[in-house]
Amino acid sequence: MYGGGNIFEKPENEIQEDPVKLAEFEARILAGEKIEPTDWMPKEYRKQLIRMIEQHAHSEIIGALPEGTWITRAPGFRRKLALMAKVQDEVGHAQLLYSAAETLGKPREDMINDLISGKSKYSNVFNYPAVTWADTAIIAWLIDAGAIINQVANSKGSYGPYCRALERICQEESFHLKYGHDNVVFLATGTQKQRQMVQEALNRWWPPIMHFFGPSDKISVHTETLMRWKVKMASNDDMRQKFLDMYVPKIWDLGLTIPDPKLKKNEETGTWEYTEPDWKEFKRVINGDGPCNAERLAVRKMSEEKGKWVREALLNRNEMYSVPLS
Ligand SMILES: [Fe+2]
Ligand SMILES: [Fe+2]
Repeated sequence: MYGGGNIFEKPENEIQEDPVKLAEFEARILAGEKIEPTDWMPKEYRKQLIRMIEQHAHSEIIGALPEGTWITRAPGFRRKLALMAKVQDEVGHAQLLYSAAETLGKPREDMINDLISGKSKYSNVFNYPAVTWADTAIIAWLIDAGAIINQVANSKGSYGPYCRALERICQEESFHLKYGHDNVVFLATGTQKQRQMVQEALNRWWPPIMHFFGPSDKISVHTETLMRWKVKMASNDDMRQKFLDMYVPKIWDLGLTIPDPKLKKNEETGTWEYTEPDWKEFKRVINGDGPCNAERLAVRKMSEEKGKWVREALLNRNEMYSVPLS
């Protein structure tokens, strides 16, 4: 799973960089080459990539929490096994991404500390609760679907370690999407109570899903430089449109209603029209005032503290084995 549209800061002026090196760097990207950790790169490229990969890693590890709360309550052993595997995958995605971000020079401990202190952001969508089992089905289907759209685009980006991590992640995400779809179909074709549950879950999750791709292009900071450097691969609105194109018909096919009376495809322009998402709410939640922000960070903090002895034991073990035997 993934945290959609990233929050980019306005890039600093790249003119401060060595113009010859900058031109070579841009020519490599234009030629479709990947940039590797030891290659020269502009400071701003490094900074924005750290921000993006770190946000993505945090979104995976925090994203495991809303569904994770349902492992003990999953309906039946088969569903429980599948959910456990999915949650485990999401935490694994975070590990891959923290490793990719570390290649750019930010230590993992700093990233974890910035997450716990609230300095680093993660996807807003995970600050909402999974109220019923049907919420986990909607998350696994539609949030993971949004994640795939985002990640497939980013896997064509310019930074080698990030692209390679994304290729593997996307394969696992596709499996999550199938698992989520299977759950939604089961509920949507079930008893009246099950259909009602999944409809209510969709009603709850639709606004966060629309937020997922990030602020509208009209208000988001996305620059020509980041697109040229293949840090950002598509605009937030383009990805939102792609998601609507692929998933609205599938949702309607199941007999579910999308809670937006304005939602329709404009056949002339080929784009979807919808009620403008509430960007004030988006900002409020990203700044820490969502229904689950405090709970998510408290769980992360607790797990960091409780895992301390394991990390220390591993370090001691390594030291033990580094002593030459004689
Ligand atoms: Fe996933
Ligand atoms: Fe994931």
